[in-house]
Amino acid sequence: MKNDFNLIAPVYDKLGRLIFGNSLIDSQRAMLHHLKADNHVLILGGGSGDILKELDKLEMRLSISYVELSSKMVELAKSKQPFKNLEVAFINQNAQSIDLPKADVVITNYFLDVFTLENLSMIMKKIDQALNDSGAWLCTDFRKTNSFFKKALIKLMYLFFKIFSQLEANRLQNFEGQFESLGFKKLDTKFYLGKMIESCAYQKPKLTK
Ligand SMILES: C[S@@+](CC[C@H](N)C(=O)[O-])C[C@H]1O[C@@H](n2cnc3c(N)ncnc32)[C@H](O)[C@@H]1O
Repeated sequence: MKNDFNLIAPVYDKLGRLIFGNSLIDSQRAMLHHLKADNHVLILGGGSGDILKELDKLEMRLSISYVELSSKMVELAKSKQPFKNLEVAFINQNAQSIDLPKADVVITNYFLDVFTLENLSMIMKKIDQALNDSGAWLCTDFRKTNSFFKKALIKLMYLFFKIFSQLEANRLQNFEGQFESLGFKKLDTKFYLGKMIESCAYQKPKLTK
């Protein structure tokens, strides 16, 4: 199976902290102020569930659909329960092959980077359809930089995940261009590790009749 994170799931977070310190989790927290109480939030490829702990800390009622392909990641995310403020539906499925639940806010953190350009365009269109008009899409991911060292590190990461997770992607895509082509407006942005990581809040355009 492509994009199979089961083998890597038990060490994924530790490895991330070892290489990037707190930047991975700090970057995932950066745009959470765009959420409002009672929002329905769709999280795709949420991994081990650290994002759920961060959402619970916001002290607002949220209902969450947590779509995650790896059964091991889902087990880890479930082990973060109980939550004080969250009602979570865990959906252990491939986001590419199910009808995604409707949402006010979508969160994709380090998720879009697993896809080839063709599949990225398809999944982003699908997510767009699940998002309500004027909804927010919070997206945190790596981005291309001109630094030789950072380019090499990203190449190494893709090689690592190709070997241990059968990652389908070989390279980082231009996510911003994809958001633009879907008509999304960038509302907010914050960079980490120089400009190697970008956390963004995008707004879906309102449908005009
Ligand atoms: C790079 S990890 C990021 C995990 C988490 N968001 C984080 O930042 O710690 C990508 C995650 O996406 C999940 N994933 C990959 N392809 C998927 C798909 N088609 N549907 C749902 N989840 C998927 C993987 O199982 C993995 O947990």
